[in-house]
Amino acid sequence: QQPPPPPRGQRRPEYVPNRIDDPNYVRIFDTTLRDGEQSPGATMTSAQKLVVARQLARLGVDIIEAGFPASSPDDLDAVRSIAIEVGNPAAPGPAGEDAADAVPHVPVICGLSRCNRKDIDAAWEAVRHARRPRIHTFIATSDIHMQHKLRKTPEQVVAIAREMVAYARSLGCTDVEFSPEDAGRSNREFLYHILGEVIKSGATTLNIPDTVGYNLPYEFGKLIADIKANTPGIENAIISTHCQNDLGLATANTLAGARAGARQLEVTINGIGERAGNASLEEVVMAIKCRRELLNGLYTGIDSRHITLTSKMVQEHSGLIVQPHKAIVGANAFAHESGIHQDGMLKNKGTYEIISPDDIGLTRANEFGIVLGKLSGRHAVRSKLVELGYEIGDKEFEDFFKRYKEVAEKKKRVTDEDLEALLSDEIFQP
Ligand code: KIV
Repeated sequence: QQPPPPPRGQRRPEYVPNRIDDPNYVRIFDTTLRDGEQSPGATMTSAQKLVVARQLARLGVDIIEAGFPASSPDDLDAVRSIAIEVGNPAAPGPAGEDAADAVPHVPVICGLSRCNRKDIDAAWEAVRHARRPRIHTFIATSDIHMQHKLRKTPEQVVAIAREMVAYARSLGCTDVEFSPEDAGRSNREFLYHILGEVIKSGATTLNIPDTVGYNLPYEFGKLIADIKANTPGIENAIISTHCQNDLGLATANTLAGARAGARQLEVTINGIGERAGNASLEEVVMAIKCRRELLNGLYTGIDSRHITLTSKMVQEHSGLIVQPHKAIVGANAFAHESGIHQDGMLKNKGTYEIISPDDIGLTRANEFGIVLGKLSGRHAVRSKLVELGYEIGDKEFEDFFKRYKEVAEKKKRVTDEDLEALLSDEIFQP
């Protein structure tokens, strides 16, 4: 079924490259298929990338960064196919797909390029087929990168950035994103200067990457606030965040950036990406949804009910399996084992859950997410027996519970079959 329209005041504003009509609307830029694919061992075939892109569109992401077209002819083909199919409103789904599965809105399709003509040509060749194409071009701006990697002076870097943004615009691309790579470690005054110059050349989104995940949340929030306050012409562009997770702070930094004025957030499904990964879409989106009041009323266009399925698809296609305790999408994220928690859950789910599993499209094996183990208490074990159809008296239950604990001590998880075996040892019958 098509999801119902978002509540009033939460509608996706009409897409204009450098403008958001609703100041509280935050664009979600998904880079699973580009930065995510840069995770060691995560390469996907063109066909896999297309399947994931379709799902990202269903999820409601605003911008799909589909790849780095200059990196290989295969990637150029993959990005082009996504631009043609997912980036066009009337594009039909694959044969047999019913209307409910059809792509519900038209995301921007973006291709990455370094600041050189060859890369920009390849990116444009791939994305130009989309209704809303975007070129994302980047060059490093920190001293360490300019000196040791690029071997260029700051003045040369500004000149290249200015020229290449103008070149991208000259091809007919009206939506150009510019990233000063390693912005998190770049000199502030230099950042204001280069960003002001690329705005003059036609950049519509200014993405601020914390490329090596070095910033702390307060620091990154201040960086965004300072860029907003000091960059000439910034009112003509959208500020974006791109936070890597080297210190485990990518989600916190992204939220700090949003709070400070960023209105595009770059994220990946399951947080996959270079090294320790990127800010994860599901964490950022659910934090914004859960704590909207503390985030100045911000909201996104994501239909969170597609999160679980999207996470599973990305695990399958990238081969990167999330750890069980991964926030939002890990196998244990909505599971409860300790007796105290299980008792609380059975009385009121709000005691230990801040998000309803329905909200992320998760159907769990039992309504309360109870997993029986050695820490489970009487309340949970007895409820499980009732669920299985066994009503036993108080005294028998005490006996049963003692034997249950002996078994549970030896096992990681106690299954329904274990419970039934324990029952059949005795006189208890359904
Ligand atoms: O981490 C980074 O700096 C990037 C840029 C290309 C945005 O991925």
